[in-house]
Amino acid sequence: MTQHLTDIASLPEGAAEALIRRAIELADGASPRRLRGEVAHLFWEPSTRTRVSFELAALRLGLGSVQVDPSRSSSTKGETLEDTVRTLAAMAPAALVVRHADAGAPDRIVEWTAGTGVVVVNAGDGARAHPTQALLDAATLAHEGIDWPSARIVLLGDLRHSRVARSAFALYRRLGVVDLRMAGPRALMPESDDAAFDGVRRYDDLDAALADASVVGCLRIQRERIRELALPDDATYHAAWGLTAARAERLPADARVLHPGPINRGIEIDPAVADGPRSRVLRQVAMGVHLRTAVFEWLLGAETDTRSA
Ligand code: CP
Repeated sequence: MTQHLTDIASLPEGAAEALIRRAIELADGASPRRLRGEVAHLFWEPSTRTRVSFELAALRLGLGSVQVDPSRSSSTKGETLEDTVRTLAAMAPAALVVRHADAGAPDRIVEWTAGTGVVVVNAGDGARAHPTQALLDAATLAHEGIDWPSARIVLLGDLRHSRVARSAFALYRRLGVVDLRMAGPRALMPESDDAAFDGVRRYDDLDAALADASVVGCLRIQRERIRELALPDDATYHAAWGLTAARAERLPADARVLHPGPINRGIEIDPAVADGPRSRVLRQVAMGVHLRTAVFEWLLGAETDTRSA
């Protein structure tokens, strides 16, 4: 059966830990394997980090790589997503890397490509899941030796519309983190029955959430997913819910700050914090290439490893 990566739940037991270990090996200088085949990258939503890092990962593994630009594809002529996907799968790439605004699109693509052997990798679907972001964040922290059971991890900002938060909490729970927290304005907090946030403590006082935190993950307001929500102006939001320089100063000395990017400076995070000593933002970006290399090795390596070639 073809293994896909559509969300954290799609990872078999032990796979997350193995991917994180392999990403760290690659970050420390291990050579990527040599694989055969091609990857098609289909990004129906904009992306810098995820799109380029998946492409670089494919190239480092010796895989062919092709970007499918939806704005120049026949989807602009009325072709359905299903027909586009079936058409591309008929060309027999090894993998489709997919970002789409619709939650669940990667799972539908898995159904449409069943029996073709094409691997589907989710690069972010709606507000539902962004599994490789969660894995690369965890690899960034594991590279620095974080102790998962004693970690105190806070995500702040727009939780409601965040696929990053949903995947992050799913993964942190798997890795054994007990103290998970979230803080944000009421309008941007998830519904109380959203199972993705089970076991995550809610705070309506950001400073209380941040007290003794070991990891603070800042989340951008996902304006592209918000229709009718009255939000305060940027300066008011920053003062109430941003990781300001003063708040960062009060964090424990060894606390690390994450942000998946893109950053909206001066809104969810102060520029001085984003560029400061606690920030791991660019380490996350670098780890993204290694983690996605590890993902391709795992999903495509079994039959195509040509290490001895
Ligand atoms: N973190 C993230 O998904 O960034 P991009 O939208 O630039 O890929």
